[in-house]
Amino acid sequence: MAFLIAPSLLSSNFSRLGEEVKALERAGADWIHFDIMDSHFVPQLTFGPAIVQSLRPLSSLPFDVHLMVERVESILPAFAKAGAHCISFHLEAVKEPQKLLQKIKNLNIKAGLSLKPKTPIEKVFPFLEFLDLVLIMTVEPGQSGQLFLKEQAEKTEILKKKISVLKNPPLIEVDGGINPETRKLVPQADILVSGNYIFQAEDYSSAISRLKSPL
Ligand code: DX5
Ligand code: ZN
Repeated sequence: MAFLIAPSLLSSNFSRLGEEVKALERAGADWIHFDIMDSHFVPQLTFGPAIVQSLRPLSSLPFDVHLMVERVESILPAFAKAGAHCISFHLEAVKEPQKLLQKIKNLNIKAGLSLKPKTPIEKVFPFLEFLDLVLIMTVEPGQSGQLFLKEQAEKTEILKKKISVLKNPPLIEVDGGINPETRKLVPQADILVSGNYIFQAEDYSSAISRLKSPL
């Protein structure tokens, strides 16, 4: 099965975000990935729900919200209202993941958990039945354009085996340093997030096709 591709707007031209979203949809993107950073969980500060909401009418693609923030609970309703399809938060950032997953579900949104590179994949096992998505970071969260951490690839393999017995297994999303070469290391992934590779390319369409082409 071909990968779904979720371009990360973190690498896009912020002065023309609306045009970027439309161009990505025309180029064959499957989801649009929003990296939400609060300058606490990670040093950078990026988008809030108002930006997501203002882009929502411009595209029919699912909006994939990746929260790299400490205060998850209070911002969930605003991202739901903004039109998020899926919201993932970091396991390392919160005390009660289960409660937050339920909160996301109650808002009628797909729920995901994300892991930093140093967090073992086994940490998501207790939550698998409640998850729509597991977001495996293959770089340290915080910025685009970093090198893929090869030793993270085996997490996708371990997770794939573990979820094979579930009736509704979560999707596996990989985020960080993805390009046509590094994607070969994560054949079990369903969704690839890609920032730098797509936005550095001459045209988005051929970059996305290369990421989707059969392995
Ligand atoms: C990093 C973000 C990623 C990043 C991906 O904190 O979560 O989504 O923008 O960008 P590349 O593909 O450039 O590593
Ligand atoms: Zn991300």
